[in-house]
Amino acid sequence: MYAFKINGGKKLFGTVEIKGAKNAVLPIMAAALLTDQPVILNNVSPLSDVCVMTQLLKSFGATVQEQDDTLTIAANAVNNTIAIYDFVSKMRASFWVLGPLLARFGHATVSLPGGCTIGARPVDIYLKALEEMGAHIKIENGYVVAHGPLHAADIFFRRVSVGATHNTLMAAVLTPGTTVIHNAAMEPEVLDLIEALKKMGANIHWKEPKVLSVTGVSRLGGVTHTVVSDRIETASFIVAAAVTKGRLFLKGGRLDLIEAITDVIKKSGIVFTPHADGFDVDATNATLTAVPVTTSEYPGFPTDAQALITTLFSIAAGESITTENLFENRLMHIPELQRMGAHIQILNNQSVLIKGVSHLSGTTVMASDLRGGVALVLAALAARGETIVKRIYHIDRGYYRLEEKLKAVGADIERIKTPV
Ligand code: EPZ
Repeated sequence: MYAFKINGGKKLFGTVEIKGAKNAVLPIMAAALLTDQPVILNNVSPLSDVCVMTQLLKSFGATVQEQDDTLTIAANAVNNTIAIYDFVSKMRASFWVLGPLLARFGHATVSLPGGCTIGARPVDIYLKALEEMGAHIKIENGYVVAHGPLHAADIFFRRVSVGATHNTLMAAVLTPGTTVIHNAAMEPEVLDLIEALKKMGANIHWKEPKVLSVTGVSRLGGVTHTVVSDRIETASFIVAAAVTKGRLFLKGGRLDLIEAITDVIKKSGIVFTPHADGFDVDATNATLTAVPVTTSEYPGFPTDAQALITTLFSIAAGESITTENLFENRLMHIPELQRMGAHIQILNNQSVLIKGVSHLSGTTVMASDLRGGVALVLAALAARGETIVKRIYHIDRGYYRLEEKLKAVGADIERIKTPV
């Protein structure tokens, strides 16, 4: 097991390179199953979740080659359409192979993902959509066993789901006729998948916001695609600059994707200066000020930044209530922040009242999910003294060598081995 050992209080200055979004690269890797031609993805970090998806694609008979930040996937010799529990339980995005496998090969058997630390996360919306497209679906021994053929359908999602949008889109692009998805997700990562699919020859357009129209084509070709910048990695480094009163140039960062985040921290006097290839975030004269935050679908405040902003507001002036609306169990970082001296009261399963304190203190804490884990690292960067953040395998899922990026801009952080 590894942990981060962090000595807080160092101001961060310098350049951080923001890479392609984990949550965009994973669905596009799954989309590579839709074609027998090569799919070449640039700007990819070798995150541990990307490695899981690579192994999963290889288990189907696809080849995946990595060179620098480029992934080349060829699914021309797929000889298996079963996604086993080991992959899907490790990473929920593995479930997204269901749509493309079913659309291209007419059958797929994919393990049900089960719950996860941030919530129950059912897959009913995915399955209902595929059934409405004519799929015969049985649940057997913990697996979804699905058979085609698929036909076009008018589909209404009962709530917005990023993953169900990815999955239904990938099923519809090779399905004859025009499928319409109502209440579709509009996250930048969904837009990136659509851009890649269109370059592969898919016929997709927005009829209106949240309504996607997909007219199936008989085959898709290959693509070379640069994965969209990671807005949550960007937000993480903004908070890192803010809590240390530093100044960072986020190369490759996109301000246009994070307006909901910059809106809630502008009051703190943090200055953003756009450049052609990224932007500066300057918190050297900031007075951190808390405001209420409620998570919602894009373009609202992202659930993936909720824990990050909680850390920021735990040392800001004033009181604020943060409400998590997307997942029912995404407050696991709060007790650990409390142990570092944060005054945060859990009001109910979804809301917390944060009363800013003058400083946090280092101690040993434990990550229990990806973003909650990063929130603890950010707290440690600001805290007085030494913090050990344990179970950082959660963080490695979505941040490649976070400690090296932080160290390069002045943080005192190292990865250490721990017995448990
Ligand atoms: C994606 O998860 C992201 N994961 C999550 O990021 C992100 O938090 C989430 O979208 C919301 O933005 C990836 O892209 C790999 P959803 P996803 O389906 O698609 C409920 C991170 O930290 N729901 O939009 O699984 C669900 O339980 C991760 O990088 C159903 O009820 O999220 C949740 O409450 C964590 N039935 C809500 O919808 C369904 O069939 C939104 O989930 C599907 C979803």
